[in-house]
Formats: sequence, structure tokens, C-alpha cells
Amino acid sequence: MRIGFCYDTKSDYGLEEENMEYTDFVSLHTVTTIKHALERCGHTVQYIGNIDKLRTLLEKHKLDEIDLIFNIAEGFGSRNREALIPSLLEIYQIPYTASDTYGMAINLNKQHTKIIAASMGIPVPQGICFKELDTSVIDKIESIGFPIVLKLNSEGGSMGVTLVKNKNELIKETEHLISQYHSDILAEEYIAGKEITVPIIGNGINAQALGVVLIIHKNGKDVSLYNSNMKGVDNDITNSLKTGLLPNIEKSIREYSLLLHRNLELRDYSRMDFRVTSNGQPYFLEINTMPSLGRDGSFELCGKSLGLEYHEIIGKIVEAASERYNLL
Ligand SMILES: Nc1ncnc2c1ncn2[C@@H]1O[C@H](COP(=O)(O)OP(=O)(O)O)[C@@H](O)[C@H]1O
Ligand SMILES: [Mg+2]
Repeated sequence: MRIGFCYDTKSDYGLEEENMEYTDFVSLHTVTTIKHALERCGHTVQYIGNIDKLRTLLEKHKLDEIDLIFNIAEGFGSRNREALIPSLLEIYQIPYTASDTYGMAINLNKQHTKIIAASMGIPVPQGICFKELDTSVIDKIESIGFPIVLKLNSEGGSMGVTLVKNKNELIKETEHLISQYHSDILAEEYIAGKEITVPIIGNGINAQALGVVLIIHKNGKDVSLYNSNMKGVDNDITNSLKTGLLPNIEKSIREYSLLLHRNLELRDYSRMDFRVTSNGQPYFLEINTMPSLGRDGSFELCGKSLGLEYHEIIGKIVEAASERYNLL
């Protein structure tokens, strides 16, 4: 198959690789790794890059020979950013991998996703979403009780994730987040316990939860807050399929994950994040419609346990998209 490859890198937007404000952009290394994986599956791959480059090529009819776009572009500039390339490709009727405009947009609103999850009976942390920390917001947060996790409602990659232990810290950290980022803030009850994530591949009834993955320090200590540093360069963190959770808890977590993936009609692949308390109560945190496909991540780990090599996992994503578009 002839595949065009869309992705964003920090350099596309004049940002340094070290800029921590956009930690969810992939590295050039991961871009090359995915390209090689697609090629090992027998596809030919054309690098495209970000939405500006895609638009130019579309306008010049330079993509007429392309069968499918492999899209991992996070976009830039608004809460719709991940949804822009899917919209453009939908207009041009070009098949693409990963979720459509709706899936990408809901993915970037943690609060709305939680409301939907809760309505399906999936347990979620108590929380409040706000633009300004006025007294009524402070009262609500105090009634939830400290410690409280602050995070950006429409960002990923643990950007801005902060734990605050009292009102003073709440005020100080909120001021910092509001001045640095342009996103609503979500304040949530802190769920102490295990950090869990569930990679999924497939569509609708054929979607499969590949495994329940524990993210843990190499010394066996639970991750208290999975911050951007740990997601980026920290070698002290590892993924494991030995979660230590009872089978019925793992089963519930898989079911919650598939329920969300299917109900929101997410496409081809996604990943669901959870925290699980010491007495086995899972709490859903968020969906990821463009989860990391980098080496040594949860997808590769689960793939191995199912007898699949890294490139075959990437191949499964292409297969899932191809089935949707009847390209096979
Ligand atoms: N309510 C919470 N309780 C405990 N930890 C949390 C909570 N919300 C977020 N975290 C921590 O912050 C990390 C990032 O939060 P998450 O909601 O997954 O956003 P994102 O990964 O998009 O930045 C989680 O993986 C988890 O370690
Ligand atoms: Mg997350």
C-alpha cells in the first residue's frame, strides 16, 4: 500500500526539542522508527509532515497516488488541533488511520470524556474544571479534599500535571498554570495507587484490548504522579504486564476501556489511562486517541505477549484502517 505519513515535530513550529510546553509531539527518531515499521510490513511510505505541508500537497494534487495517510499529527493552536487533519482528509475523501474529527476532539477534553465515562457507569475521580480560581471553585476543591491533582483539560503528555497539598499551593500553582498555558484547568481528587494503561487496536466489535499494563518504577515502587519527565527521558520507569491486580479487576478495566473505545467510535487504536487504589478500585482518567507508538511502549509490550513484533503492531493499525475503508 502507498502510505503518506503525517506528523508534527517541534521544529515545524519553531520550537526547540527541549521545549516542555509541547511534550506530546513525537521525536524525529520515533517518526523514522514508525516509517521503518510500515516499510517492514511491505508498504511504501512518503513523509508528509504537518497540516501545512499536507494542504500544499493536496492543493497541488500531489497525493493522488496515496492509498492511506498514517496520521500521528498532534496539531497546534487550539483544542481542535488533533481534529484538523482528520477533517481535511475527510473533505478530500482520503483514507487515514486513527480517530476521526469527533474522536480526536473529545480526546482533548478530559472533563467531557469523564462525564461520558461516568454516564456509562465507569468510575472517575471527583473533579472540577475551571478557567478562574474564584471562591466558589476553591470551596468546591476544598470539599473534594487535598491532595488535589491539577492538570490541563485540553493537553496531553502530562503537561502541567501538579499535585497540591493545601490552599496556598493550589492558588500558587493555578496562577502558574494559567499564566503559562492556554487551557482550562481540571482539579481532581488524587487517586493514590497503581498507574495503569490499556492499549487497544481495532474497530467496533473487532476492537481488542491488548493487555492491562502497569507503569511502575524499576525498584517496584508505584508511580505517584506520572509526569512529563518520566514520560520523556526517565529510565527509572518500566511497563509490566504483571499488574498485581486481581483478575476480576483487570477484567473490569478491559471492559471499561473497550466500552469507551466502542461507544465513542474511536478508530483503529487508542489507549485508556487509569489509576487503581490499593484496594483494587479502578478510576478512569482519560482516553488517548493518538497514544505513543514509540519503541518500548505499552503497545510493543502487549504485542510481544501476543507474539507480535513491533512492526506487526504498526501493521495491525494499518489493517484496521484498511478494513474500515475496504482497502484490503
Ligand atoms: N486524579 C488523579 N489521581 C492521581 N494521579 C493522577 C490523576 N490525574 C492525573 N494523574 C497523574 O497524571 C498523569 C497524567 O494525567 P492524565 O489525565 O493521564 O493526562 P495526560 O496523560 O493527557 O497528560 C497520570 O498518568 C497520573 O499519573
Ligand atoms: Mg495520560
